[in-house]
Amino acid sequence: MPVVTFKAGGADNCARVAGLPYVYIRTEAGGSVLPASCPHRGGPLNLGTPDPTGRRLVCPWHERGSSLSRLRRQVPAVRSGDTVTAVLPGPADADTELCHLPLSPALAAGA
Ligand code: FES
Repeated sequence: MPVVTFKAGGADNCARVAGLPYVYIRTEAGGSVLPASCPHRGGPLNLGTPDPTGRRLVCPWHERGSSLSRLRRQVPAVRSGDTVTAVLPGPADADTELCHLPLSPALAAGA
């Protein structure tokens, strides 16, 4: 599994491993690294919104909710200052690159 350090916000706030994006988000429950690709059909979870309970992240494409706790369990991570280091799924030698993905206001600010 690749261990990748990237920015918690702004430029290079996304790590792609074998083409799959991961971003750091902030919710009322705290910050965490999540897959930015919806498990339904790959919609942009980075543009999703927590539901009123704060337990599910609602995808903007088909409005399905994904469990935030399940998504968090997929990516162990620790934040230090403005960077985050995450253990991302995939083989250790998988292609990894940093990029930028926009976040919905709710995920950028921890609504
Ligand atoms: S792609 Fe996310 S709900 Fe369908």
